[in-house]
Amino acid sequence: RMRRWQVESRPEIDTFTPGLLALYESLKPSEEHKSKQNQLVDSLTKSVSKEWPDAQLHLYGSCANSFGTSHSDVDVCLEMETGTESTAEALLKLADVLRSDNFDNVEAITSARVPIVRMSDPASGFSCDICINNLFAVANTKLLKDYAQIDQRLLQLAFLVKHWAKLRGVNETYRGTLSSYAYVLMCINFLQLREPKILPCLQAMEQTFTMNVDGTECAYFDEVHHLQDFGADNKESIAELLWAFFHYWAFDHDYRRDVISVRMGNTISKQEKNWTTRVGNDRHLMCIEDPFETGHDLGRVVDRQTLRILREEFERAAGVLQYNDDPCVTLFEPYD
Ligand code: CTP
Ligand code: MG
Repeated sequence: RMRRWQVESRPEIDTFTPGLLALYESLKPSEEHKSKQNQLVDSLTKSVSKEWPDAQLHLYGSCANSFGTSHSDVDVCLEMETGTESTAEALLKLADVLRSDNFDNVEAITSARVPIVRMSDPASGFSCDICINNLFAVANTKLLKDYAQIDQRLLQLAFLVKHWAKLRGVNETYRGTLSSYAYVLMCINFLQLREPKILPCLQAMEQTFTMNVDGTECAYFDEVHHLQDFGADNKESIAELLWAFFHYWAFDHDYRRDVISVRMGNTISKQEKNWTTRVGNDRHLMCIEDPFETGHDLGRVVDRQTLRILREEFERAAGVLQYNDDPCVTLFEPYD
């Protein structure tokens, strides 16, 4: 294991908790933001039902998984029969419908792994991604939302990490860094690995929820109201956890050998997933297993150069929380 130094967080680390919690509170979306979101969903439902009366609209991503900030976009999945039409054709038609209903900047992006229509809503100014029949995203949205209800430190940690990642420029998949979704999975797995544990592994428990997506069973324990005290034995503060999160990714994670797996509540080896050699564009330098699409590595976008950037940022963050006089400000200083 690579461990450059074995340190404990500074003794006064908890004094930074109030500042971090205040920042967390300021990032949470307002009621106004949520009601604007609902209006957007209503007008979108009207547009879509004209062409596809049987389509069902699901919200996914941060507007529905409770990890959304007031800067988050709105992600929508349409569940519908496309008949003989391909998804790409349906998306092109959807783009036409939305344009004629006066949504702005409507663009069909059909070459992405998950093809979408992207547009903005003139009423709210929100940008919105719409996909068709990507029910994995609907399932993983529910999983994240359920994890968030078990221990409030998950939301606090993930909001701070997402905020840090956006400001430090390491939340840009098209440039080889990680998606918000990947950061949330990193936070969940990290809390599964604390001693005592702060989060359980819901996919290893009795299956009270199941949803079949394209032949894959997405199943886990979703009666999370029974787990309200799960993390109670662990008294770590948010400042301590944030420091430990960055410290883990800077010094303790074994990038060469390990895959983090929320599904297993643990790390597993690249070997057992056959993620040891590069296949096509999948480099597997930093491995984050999707909880349901288990062949999917959320870290596949990371290359040697961006891995170095990410690790330097994790190190910087851990160092700032360890030594800086005003870590709540310095940690989030924009990178340019
Ligand atoms: N998603 C996925 N696989 C990916 C990326 C995203 O299934 N490789 C799905 C997840 O359901 C995720 C959603 O798409 O929640 C939106 O992804 P992303 O924009 O990364 O996360 P958000 O939570 O929406 O974050 P933000 O607040 O930055 O919009
Ligand atoms: Mg989003």
